[in-house]
Amino acid sequence: MDAQACSYVIFGATGNLSRIKLMPAFYHLEVAGQLPEGTKIVGMGRRDWTQEKWLSEVKGMIQAKIKDAFDETIFQKFAARLHYHFGDLQKNECYSSLASTLEQPQFPKNSAFYLSISPSDFGSVMEHLSNNQLFDEQHGWKRVVIEKPFGYDLDSAEALQKRISHYLTEEQIYRIDHYLGKGTVQNVLVFRFANVMLEPLWNRNYIDHIQITHSESFGIEERGAYYDGSGAMRDMLQSHLMQLLTLVTMEPPVSMEADALRDEKVKVLKSIRPISKEAVHAHAYRAQYAPGTVNGEKVNGYLQEANIPADSITETYASMKLYVDNWRWRGVPMYLRTGKRMKKSQSVISICFRHPPLQFFRDTDIHCMNPNWVQLGIQPEECIRIEMTVKEPGLEMKTRTSSLDASFRNSDEKAIDAYEDLLLDVLKGDRSLFLRFDEVEYAWKIVDPILQTWASERDYVATYPAGSWGPEDSRLFDKESQKWRTSLTPECNNAK
Ligand code: BG6
Repeated sequence: MDAQACSYVIFGATGNLSRIKLMPAFYHLEVAGQLPEGTKIVGMGRRDWTQEKWLSEVKGMIQAKIKDAFDETIFQKFAARLHYHFGDLQKNECYSSLASTLEQPQFPKNSAFYLSISPSDFGSVMEHLSNNQLFDEQHGWKRVVIEKPFGYDLDSAEALQKRISHYLTEEQIYRIDHYLGKGTVQNVLVFRFANVMLEPLWNRNYIDHIQITHSESFGIEERGAYYDGSGAMRDMLQSHLMQLLTLVTMEPPVSMEADALRDEKVKVLKSIRPISKEAVHAHAYRAQYAPGTVNGEKVNGYLQEANIPADSITETYASMKLYVDNWRWRGVPMYLRTGKRMKKSQSVISICFRHPPLQFFRDTDIHCMNPNWVQLGIQPEECIRIEMTVKEPGLEMKTRTSSLDASFRNSDEKAIDAYEDLLLDVLKGDRSLFLRFDEVEYAWKIVDPILQTWASERDYVATYPAGSWGPEDSRLFDKESQKWRTSLTPECNNAK
């Protein structure tokens, strides 16, 4: 599939996502020479800015992100694609004037509308676009990229889906989960399905449990208004972490084709054992960060952050245990957790294998016998490591853990963020890394009972000091030997 030139219209172009992710990603595509000739990027904003002001804003966004790598000559080429469209999203003039702009000959007839706006506005923006014939495909394709969260819970996701399907066909909808654009995440598929030696072990007979941790050392920053209505479960677990889980546990799809991949992911989601309301506390844990110290600096607790009500019970940390009740995974616990203001920012998938029988070593001096782990580091360190037990050199029979490193990036190969790939896939019409509605729907079905229970229990929410590894939630683990891994390097637990 080749990328085709289009008019990329960004709703929410002056917002946080555009600043830190989208504009830098478009610029990277320019650097890589990947943006098709003629592609235009239209920034929609409520601020009455001139074109000059917009260019200097975008320049600032890119410079803030890439610092010394900024190249003025490339930026000038990039700037020629940029156009600012001022308007109020609630008003029809905003869309009729957009339609007139896009009719000008310099704007390609294919259009992609990227909705990086409050989810409550998705439906009305689409209605306006449709009423102004902006989804009319007579002279070129029209695609809509929808940022998460897709809905607030199952009911609202279904209502939103019903509404947008009045205006668009499923082929026109690109529900984005930017985790699917990350290099190591895509490498999970290659690692699993291009290497034959792990596949026979990738099941309940050999795997003890799976952990997925996404921790962030930063807090909610200036996103208080959004975050307080969302919380960690909706913001990260229902979407990004659940997607990671499907990729690690799904059956091999018949091809990389969009529906083949999505079919397998949905099968995993459908196989997840429902969590009844009575079982919520055994399966999920929430907490909020209290004041603490991060990287040597004293920081506020969640309740002291801007735009957070003093009695907020919104969780900034959420963890849960799931079971995928199919032939491959029955009985293997999957632990997922995420938190803001934790000790370190990192995303890691850790697969813990069962302990080998230790009978053989019973009369030896072995004091460190860890199970094998496969560590898939997603960020900041991108790596694939297999931890093995080896003998320590010397006369005694002692072991240590050594790690086989199958990292896929060489030091001279630059890491890019996730959005570049996804923005380009929209131009190619490749939906394999975007979500089909049933994926979103089943993910909501899994977390809805937890969210409902939490919403009804308003008296108490646990806290953890900012800068720590989160609250004490070990009650989620099935066995004493299971605990959160915090490091990519082998941890010796002296288990025998
Ligand atoms: C976003 C969440 O979807 O993902 C943020 O809304 C979170 O709260 C972010 O910080 C994490 O993404 P990344 O790519 O920085 O790991």
